[in-house]
Amino acid sequence: MNLQSYATGPQILVTVELQANPLRLKTALGYLNWVFNPFQRLGVVGVYDLLSTRSPTEQGLYLNLGYWPRAQNLDTASEALAMLVADTADMGPGHQVLDVGYGFGDQDMLWMRRRGPERITGLNVTASQVAVARQRVEDAGLAERIDLRQGSATEMPIEDASVDRVVAVECAFHFDTREAFFREAWRVLRPGGRLVVADILPMPRAGGRWARLTQRLSWWLVASKFAIPPANAYTRPTYHSLLALRGFEDIRVVSIRDQVYAPLHAYLRAHSRTVERLHPVARLAARFALRFDASGVYGGLDYVLASAVKPA
Ligand SMILES: C[S@@+](CC[C@H](N)C(=O)[O-])C[C@H]1O[C@@H](n2cnc3c(N)ncnc32)[C@H](O)[C@@H]1O
Repeated sequence: MNLQSYATGPQILVTVELQANPLRLKTALGYLNWVFNPFQRLGVVGVYDLLSTRSPTEQGLYLNLGYWPRAQNLDTASEALAMLVADTADMGPGHQVLDVGYGFGDQDMLWMRRRGPERITGLNVTASQVAVARQRVEDAGLAERIDLRQGSATEMPIEDASVDRVVAVECAFHFDTREAFFREAWRVLRPGGRLVVADILPMPRAGGRWARLTQRLSWWLVASKFAIPPANAYTRPTYHSLLALRGFEDIRVVSIRDQVYAPLHAYLRAHSRTVERLHPVARLAARFALRFDASGVYGGLDYVLASAVKPA
């Protein structure tokens, strides 16, 4: 038996066909509530449990927006972002790496193959992702050198001064709070160790009243739907100051937003198959967003690559 549910967007009527299967129905209701109910605020784990393994990438299970200067598709863009973080961290043989917010572990397997650190330990709060990621690492024969655990970036079950690199690919905006993560990163890094983060921040407000309103709306939508604590809503100069206050040196907080949002938007517009891989309700929201220019949709969002060194 088929159950039909209808959701309307501007000028479009979408039919979402659901098998009358309790799990699919529960998921569809979860998506409808998350996407369309402005009062619904899911926690981080709630968001990622809902998204499940439905990654829009074709090959892997990456959950990032990608770094696009030389990428041909979402898979290569996601890998390029992971490699940008590894290269900025100067990751290599002999390093003990701590990867926080590892999703399904794709970047850890990539780094191990391409940069060969001694060991990668991962921390992720979402148990459903931890189980899948651990299995993938096991299947890839890398379990001896990649140890993926359940744990939080803000309370790391890791010894003081025990790692050479702390990296976080597109996840620190979730941490409650990012400042607590900086404190923990400082604690677990050895002197001379480096922190590298690809992160989402609000843009400094600029332009006329309409531009500011659009910026505010764009940040609010992302922050409220993707579990970003209000305490993390500050711009680049504050980000830099918080790292400096913690004691880090050689701090760089560089915006790479032009290499992320606009090219991603253009790619999704030109490749509807990528959007097709999303859940029907998320697909509806994505198609709606793709009707607008990238400058409007992402107007309130900065995207930074931040790096800092714990003094030797
Ligand atoms: C947007 S995904 C990015 C995943 C992966 N880094 C990638 O690029 O595909 C954010 C990840 O951060 C994790 N996360 C969120 N809050 C966390 C916390 N406090 N500690 C550890 N992981 C966290 C989520 O479970 C999720 O895996």
